[in-house]
Amino acid sequence: MSKVVVVGSYVVDLMSRTPHLPKPGETVLGGPFKMGPGGKGGNQATAAARCGSEVTFVTKLGEDVFGREALKHFRTENVNTEFIKVDPGQATGAALIAVDDKSENSIVVALGACGTITEAEVLEAEEKVKDADIVLLQLETSIEAVVTTVKLAWKHQVPVILNPAPYQEFPREILRGVDFITPNETEAFELSGVEVVDEGAALAAAKKIHEMGVGTVIITLGSKGAFLYTGGEKGELVPGFKVEAVDTTGAGDAFNGGFAHALSTGSSVKEAMTFSHAVAALSVTKIGTAPAMPYKHEVENFLAHLGTVK
Ligand code: RIB
Ligand code: NA
Repeated sequence: MSKVVVVGSYVVDLMSRTPHLPKPGETVLGGPFKMGPGGKGGNQATAAARCGSEVTFVTKLGEDVFGREALKHFRTENVNTEFIKVDPGQATGAALIAVDDKSENSIVVALGACGTITEAEVLEAEEKVKDADIVLLQLETSIEAVVTTVKLAWKHQVPVILNPAPYQEFPREILRGVDFITPNETEAFELSGVEVVDEGAALAAAKKIHEMGVGTVIITLGSKGAFLYTGGEKGELVPGFKVEAVDTTGAGDAFNGGFAHALSTGSSVKEAMTFSHAVAALSVTKIGTAPAMPYKHEVENFLAHLGTVK
C-alpha cells in the first residue's frame, strides 16, 4: 500500500443550508443543520484513505465530545491515529459553514487545538514521514507545524504537497522544500500578486510561484479543472468533470487527498490530476465534507464511464 502522511487540521463541521449567505448584520432562517467531521487536513486524510492509501494523520484535538467523535471517524476510515494528540487544555476546532441555494459557501473556522500543533508534536511522527511516499499539508494549522513538516520531509527527501489553504502568511523560503503546490485562484493571487482571471493570468501567476522554488504548480480553477505548470514558457489546463453539484464544500480537499493518493502510487502528475478531478467531482454530488469523499471503486467506476455519475 502506498503511504501518505497528512499534517493538518481537524475541526467539526457545523453546517446549515440557507437560501442566501447572510450579509453583515443579517440573520437568515436556514436549515437543515448537519454536523460532521471536517477540517482541510481531516478531509484530505479521509479522501486519501478512501482512495486506498495507508494514511497517517497528524493533528490535535480537545478532550471533548467533538474530539471523541473525530477519533471514532478516523478509526472507521482506517486512518492511523497514533499521532493525533488530545490536549485537555484546548477545545476541538469547529467550522461554521453556510451553504446557499447555488451551493456557494461561506466558512468561519475556529482552529482550537489543531491551531496549536508544535514542532515537537510533528517531530514525533518522524519515522512515519521518513517512510512515506508523500506528505500533504495545508495552512489551516500553526505555521510552526507547517514549517517543521516541510523541513522534516526535506531531511528525508520525501515529496511534499502544500495546499496553501486557507491562505495565511508563512515564511516563503519553505517553498524551496515544496514539490507540489495546489492554490485555488484566491490563494494563487495571495502568493503571486497576479489575479487569476483567465488561463493567461494563471500562467503568469504559476510562473511567479515556480520562481519561489516550487517545482510543480497546480492552480485549481473549480469545475473548469486545474492549470498545471512545471517551468518553461507554457502550462496546460487539465480539465475537470461536469457533475450536478449539491455541495462544493471540501471539493478542494477531495482533489488534494486524491492527488496525494495517486502520486503516492506512482501515477504521473497528469494522471494524478485526472484522478483527483474525479474524486472532487464525486465529492460535490454529496452533502458534507469528509463523509462526502468517494471510495476507490466509485472513482474507478466514474473514470471508466468517462465522467457519468451512477
Ligand atoms: O475545505 C473545507 C473545510 O474547510 C471544511 O471542512 C471546514 O472544516 C473548513 O475548515
Ligand atoms: Na460535498
